[in-house]
Amino acid sequence: MYISTVTGTVTPQECAAIAHASAIRNRRDDVTGLLLFNSRRFLQVLEGPKDAVENIFARIHGDSRHRGVVKLREGMIDTREFGRWAMAYDDPLRPSDSLKDVVAALLASAGPSTRAHFLGSAELHRPTA
Ligand SMILES: Cc1cc2nc3c(=O)[nH]c(=O)nc-3n(C[C@H](O)[C@H](O)[C@H](O)COP(=O)(O)O)c2cc1C
Repeated sequence: MYISTVTGTVTPQECAAIAHASAIRNRRDDVTGLLLFNSRRFLQVLEGPKDAVENIFARIHGDSRHRGVVKLREGMIDTREFGRWAMAYDDPLRPSDSLKDVVAALLASAGPSTRAHFLGSAELHRPTA
């Protein structure tokens, strides 16, 4: 799991396109996960075989669309936490409550400012009606 900061402007549509292309590429390597974007920062979780995750992370790390990549969590797990999503993208226009709950649990191990940043933006994106 890492966070990074967008360089320039990436629209929610462009982020959805990144998530879609990533899901297709990652599936070949049995890698799943989650990509969140709040117009300024990315948060991504990659789950799968260690070598595959490391190769994909190295590619992502060098991508000029973002900078300041900081790994928040890395380690071996028994069961995928995001298996169901296969690189879900949290659409700010259609927020998913179950996705928010899993993200909140994941962010429990992140720093307080990172947590506040993502959970705060998730709240802002909730429809008021
Ligand atoms: C925030 C962000 C997340 C990305 N996530 C993935 C990913 O999970 N899998 C992937 O293959 N590429 C991902 N990419 C795209 C890669 O950085 C890279 O452009 C893509 O893998 C193609 O690499 P190549 O041109 O070396 O083949 C992501 C890019 C960004 C900006």
